[in-house]
Amino acid sequence: MHMLTRSLVPAMFLFLVACSTDTTSHEGQDAQPADTVLIVMDQHSHARPNEAAITHLDLDITVDMTAKRITGTASYAIRSANAQQIAFDTNGLTIERVTDGSGKELEYAMGDSTFLGRALTVELPKGADRVTIAYSTGKNAKALQWLDPQQTADKKHPFLFTQGQAILTRSWIPVQDSPGIRFTYTAKVKVPAELMAVMSATNPQELSADGSYVFKMEQPIPAYLIALAVGDIAFKPVGARTGVYAERSVVDRAAWEFADMGTMLETAEALYGPYRWGRYDVIVLPPSFPFGGMENPRLTFATPTILTGDRSLTSLVAHELAHSWSGNLVTNATWDDFWLNEGFTVYFESRISEAIHGPDYAGMLQQLGRQDLLNTLVTIARSKHPEDSKLRLDLTGRDPDEGMTEVAYEKGAAFLRLLESKVGRPKFDAFIRDYFDRFAFQSMTTDRFLVHLQDHLLSPNQLVLDVEAWVDGVGLPADAPTPMSDRFNKVDAEIQRWVIGTPAAKLATNGWSTFEWMHFLRNLPKALSADQMNELDKAFAFTASGNAEVLAAWLEQCIRNDHDAAYARLDQFLNTVGRRKFLVPLYTELKATEKGRIMAQTIYASARPNYHSVSVNTIDDLLAWKDNHPPVNF
Ligand code: BES
Ligand code: ZN
Repeated sequence: MHMLTRSLVPAMFLFLVACSTDTTSHEGQDAQPADTVLIVMDQHSHARPNEAAITHLDLDITVDMTAKRITGTASYAIRSANAQQIAFDTNGLTIERVTDGSGKELEYAMGDSTFLGRALTVELPKGADRVTIAYSTGKNAKALQWLDPQQTADKKHPFLFTQGQAILTRSWIPVQDSPGIRFTYTAKVKVPAELMAVMSATNPQELSADGSYVFKMEQPIPAYLIALAVGDIAFKPVGARTGVYAERSVVDRAAWEFADMGTMLETAEALYGPYRWGRYDVIVLPPSFPFGGMENPRLTFATPTILTGDRSLTSLVAHELAHSWSGNLVTNATWDDFWLNEGFTVYFESRISEAIHGPDYAGMLQQLGRQDLLNTLVTIARSKHPEDSKLRLDLTGRDPDEGMTEVAYEKGAAFLRLLESKVGRPKFDAFIRDYFDRFAFQSMTTDRFLVHLQDHLLSPNQLVLDVEAWVDGVGLPADAPTPMSDRFNKVDAEIQRWVIGTPAAKLATNGWSTFEWMHFLRNLPKALSADQMNELDKAFAFTASGNAEVLAAWLEQCIRNDHDAAYARLDQFLNTVGRRKFLVPLYTELKATEKGRIMAQTIYASARPNYHSVSVNTIDDLLAWKDNHPPVNF
């Protein structure tokens, strides 16, 4: 069922109102002009954008680092077709008051609390075009992580960061929290005078005199891309349009590590068109940040675990930068379409890496990704939701975070690589570039993409392909291109030499990068003796490694082979690093034996308060934590 209605505001816009449950009828979509706005109902938001949608946010908040609370107002310009109500998402917020543009109080109601939070439904007077919500955040707001000084690098000041994706922004701002709803924003943020605030917007480069900061995001973005960090933060430029923010003691190291940022930006632009967001900066956060990186516009949030001192993990910056096109410019309309964000981004990231470091380097990245995917596919096939290995997801009734797996990333990228291999790079690049231009600042459903793909790539090139198997089938289709890497073949040969008796210290490991070490550690024989583990550690000092990827891969081996010399390091790693990608395999490996299970419970009991809610959720499930630690109510 499609329904076309004339827009009320800018005459050039049409609103295509589609129901996301209707995934079969394509007709007519591609006939829409490029400036058509697609309005999709998103089952993970209470908003009803077909009735009333936000177009601009003026946020005015105070951040209380001691009480661990944000208080203030979110004032929205809204667009509505004379709707009588507008619905927002909230989660754990206390709503104080709702007013219109003239300050008159508006009636509102709060819905039931579910995993989506609570709907805030505001009654709209006739012709209302502004709604202002006074609110404060609750205890344990899911997006927010409040760090005590000892959880930071400099140990002197507290720190706060937010993580919005997928549906957490509603826990610190009452908002229409759907990736299909875009709006511009300004923010006034008040923090303690000794701290700096930065956002996914225009940013300060110096401390303000009184802790007041003003921000502006002039490009319309969805709610999951609003982000804030507060701490004793310093800035250092890396070229004209790029720079890094980090705690004082970290900022020089970060600037050195990311020296390539400017080149990456130029490389990305040469591939797929102008960067449309002004500056591109990265903030390196304390180690509890639950992700490797998060593509908050203008300011990527990143884990410090990529600061290796040899620039070997900067492809993560390429990834988050690539999201400035795939994700932030053309955005998945719902979380079922997540592969459109991540699959395109992995493909794009790899193209940036290839252009800067060559095909060998990109080949290693691709192989590591393929390995991750194959492991994930096994886990998913055995899980409660084997259908999660489809590119197009159905996350009905579930936290969208559950569907955010390697499938979207690596199966998505493999699909795009297959298309590239069929039509050749020049045609494929032209297709992708046109896609970003045509749908800039719009949302994309899988259906809408498939229609566009058919009309602009498959049909013109007489390409026949089992698109359905890729998009709506489980597992990895047989025509997936196989990534090749000569450098990994050499690593495999060294593993073989070691297995048949060459001492570890004699292996030809000179010049190996982080990727080669990861491949080495991941592909050792499954069971290793105590002597073999000692030999490896002696030859390569893995337990002492400051490289988190290498260390995490080694610690997995240590658990599997009960190498207790590394347990103190494991304990320390799990107590400081909150990056979910490292936590999941380590706790999973621990869980496999009785001894490990006890260790996991002990370590997690002390580490849990140091993790962000997204990591806590995942590890709680993994260790069945809540079954053994029911909440205590006084
Ligand atoms: N947008 C993601 C992070 C994310 C995914 C946050 C799902 C919340 C829900 C980000 O772009 C990402 O993919 N980060 C990766 C790094 C990348 C190099 C694969 C990560 O965090 O490991
Ligand atoms: Zn990503």
